[in-house]
Amino acid sequence: MSKILEIAGEALEQMPPETRFRPEDEEVIARHRETLLSWTPELVQAFYDTLFAHPPTKAVFREGERPDREKTLEGWWQRTVEGPLDETYFAWMAKVGLVHVVRQVENPMMLAMTSFVARFVERKAHEAKLSDADPLSEAFYRLSMTVGAVITHGYDRHQAMALYNVAGMEPALLERLTAEEARALLEALRKEG
Ligand code: HEM
Repeated sequence: MSKILEIAGEALEQMPPETRFRPEDEEVIARHRETLLSWTPELVQAFYDTLFAHPPTKAVFREGERPDREKTLEGWWQRTVEGPLDETYFAWMAKVGLVHVVRQVENPMMLAMTSFVARFVERKAHEAKLSDADPLSEAFYRLSMTVGAVITHGYDRHQAMALYNVAGMEPALLERLTAEEARALLEALRKEG
């Protein structure tokens, strides 16, 4: 199994099944394929208007990059809506996460935008008075959570690997040291009251 498939699988396994993306979610998305695709231009515009209106996210982009980024998001949306949303898709999401690590896009930015997409679908589904607006919104909510889990887990795993490659620190040691640091910080916070 490739490393990237393994990372996506680990993230999915850690999520209780009720919270993760499921086959019924894929079915409801498939039923609304055409409607979801018709929202593409509006989603892409709203997504990048949001990122470009906020200095920390705007700072990620190079001069003149927006048209290319709009095309990649359009491609992501089409692939997401058309499916299949299987292990290959989530492994691709782990890889897309890495593309963002290279550009120093932070996890809070990624999670904020996965949530943005879910909220966009919820708003549009209700505005269009779709009969199953609620199941469709829930499907995108679980999909966003799952994509976010895969991306953030990939970030952690690659940070640990980078430390191993650069300084030879075993990932298990890093985990133990992180837990110890957290314990020490918690103790200090409790003393502060
Ligand atoms: C729901 C969240 C997001 C999704 C689904 C998404 C999707 C994508 C995809 C599919 C690509 C192309 C990947 C490739 O070339 O293989 C990409 C590239 C990129 N995205 Fe995102 N993105 C998200 C959030 C963000 C955020 C929050 C930022 C910046 C604040 C961002 C900035 C970029 C940049 C700069 C690239 C180009 C990377 C490069 O090739 O140098 N993205 N994104």
